Amino acid sequence: MSRNVYLVTGGAGFIGSNYIHYLFEKYAQVKVINLDKLTYAGNPENLNDLKNNPDYVFIKGDICDSTIVNRIFEEFKPDYLINFAAESHVDRSIGDAEDFIRTDMYGVYVLLEATRKYGLERFIQISTDEVYGSIESGSFTEESPLKPGNPYSASKAGGDRLTYSYFNTYQLPVIITRASNNYGPYQYPEKLIPLFVTNAMEDKSLPLYGDGKNVRDWLYVKDHCKAIEFVLKNGELGEVYNIAGGSEKENIEITRLILELMDKPESLIKPVADRIGHDRRYSLDSSKLHQLGWQPQHSFDVAMRETVQWYVDHQDWWKPLKSGEYLEYYKKHYPEGKSLT
Ligand code: NAD
Ligand code: TYD
Repeated sequence: MSRNVYLVTGGAGFIGSNYIHYLFEKYAQVKVINLDKLTYAGNPENLNDLKNNPDYVFIKGDICDSTIVNRIFEEFKPDYLINFAAESHVDRSIGDAEDFIRTDMYGVYVLLEATRKYGLERFIQISTDEVYGSIESGSFTEESPLKPGNPYSASKAGGDRLTYSYFNTYQLPVIITRASNNYGPYQYPEKLIPLFVTNAMEDKSLPLYGDGKNVRDWLYVKDHCKAIEFVLKNGELGEVYNIAGGSEKENIEITRLILELMDKPESLIKPVADRIGHDRRYSLDSSKLHQLGWQPQHSFDVAMRETVQWYVDHQDWWKPLKSGEYLEYYKKHYPEGKSLT
């Protein structure tokens, strides 16, 4: 039986590393190439268990670098490319958008050009629900207009539509997914859930923006990984698929739940100034994907309890990240990643 070769870009981050784990659990025969620049958010330790697996190849590199991308296509001839690589934190994009424009737009262009040159079976662009912007009531379908409201979501909208344009113009075999907010293991502790869980563990305050009533739809990362694989195998070329968790919550509800699960007092909640341009509510209509045959399988209550427990059990994973120690560690241990022959 021939083995499929997956090129996963940004595979050392939160969702990408969960997806690589998912691939090795699902398939007896698979080869995975992980191209990741190892920004502050990339952590090859997330995939430590695969370090000695000959079917897993980690390459440290930038998706904006056409030389390395082309060499990977030449050497490994991937069947599938799943692009997770991105600058992904809204607050950082408000501070300085340059890396967002580079990676989330120009990087996508480099990957699409390599695909045009060498060809492959499927190119999956991992986009986001944030490209639609905020919605007061009701939910966005795939046909809703895009109205991104911050530099992160605008850069993602650029990558999303550029990917579609390569289907329309050059008939590249692309599919675009737009998922809602993910939670689960290995999420960098700057995002709401891991930040609040790890702060609570250290009895530090939880900085809740504005009135705490902004709404996000929460998707368990393992459901997301399964949805991506489902879309890769069953989706139609050139199409967009919304991937909703179906668990919309106000931030204050999430905050209280975390404190309750951790048996910590509500006095840790610290209302702070609102994020500028803060999108009020994200909501996706996922019926297109439901009709195709995917549904989330994890209940929010159970998966949230497991997620909180994961951070409680993995202090050795997040403590060095929060202290900055890890940056020094991986620079020493992963100076170049595996080199190409
Ligand atoms: P993350 O920030 O945890 O990981 C991003 C990864 O990309 C890191 O490993 C980083 O080192 C790598 N990277 C960044 N720039 C790169 C470059 N130029 N070249 C190569 N690698 C680079 O992000 P995440 O939360 O895992 O998100 C993954 C993808 O999913 C992103 O495209 C994001 O927009 C999208 N998404 C995320 C969520 C969410 O809730 N986290 C929801 C919907 C969509
Ligand atoms: P975040 O995890 O940054 O994801 P996104 O902005 O991409 O949805 O934030 C989720 C929500 O939590 C968002 O409404 C902003 C809010 N938030 C806080 O209230 N305090 C925080 O410290 C952070 C990081 C986020």
